[in-house]
Amino acid sequence: MMKNIAVFASGNGTNAENLIRFFNKEESLMRVTLVVTNRLTAGVRERAADLGVSCLYIPKEMWKEGTEIRRCLWERGIDFIVLAGFLVRIPDILIEAYPQRIVNIHPALLPKFGGKGMYGDHVHRAVVEAGETESGITIHYINEHYDEGTIIAQFRCPVYPADTPDDVARRVHALEYEHYPQVVARLVGALQE
Ligand code: GAR
Repeated sequence: MMKNIAVFASGNGTNAENLIRFFNKEESLMRVTLVVTNRLTAGVRERAADLGVSCLYIPKEMWKEGTEIRRCLWERGIDFIVLAGFLVRIPDILIEAYPQRIVNIHPALLPKFGGKGMYGDHVHRAVVEAGETESGITIHYINEHYDEGTIIAQFRCPVYPADTPDDVARRVHALEYEHYPQVVARLVGALQE
């Protein structure tokens, strides 16, 4: 049975694009069939359009409750949700509708450098300012608290004394592109029914 994946993204969408390119191949039994964004100007909209994946814009006020979003996802037969730079809190209704079926990627080694306001370049800046010698990515399930769901996998990269936040970002992005699709494929492949 084909499994349908939705990718939620708020920004540029390079991870969303990477996931679509990884999954949407002729022979694949899992596909990214939907991209969801909360920002009209998000770069991910154009990326999805270029790759022929429909992109749903859901404005911020609709994320408070979530019944309508759940309906949209059920209607499209979405089995699994992948957050890729998505900056809105996921409503409880969705967490209940998709138990252990919503994952997030965080661009640092949680529990360090997580929590509200810690996203994208803010994270890399904080890592450099703290004088860390390593950073990396954390792939985790979503629960009702930012960045606190069960950790599924972490991958590490070095941080050198002369690194700028951009240097760290580059290394972390490379880890994301390499590992996120593989981990998602493993989780979706293990879904029952
Ligand atoms: C990624 O690095 C992702 O880990 C991060 O946002 C970036 C999105 O980049 N997510 C968070 O910070 C979530 N707290 P992209 O739009 O190019 O995929």
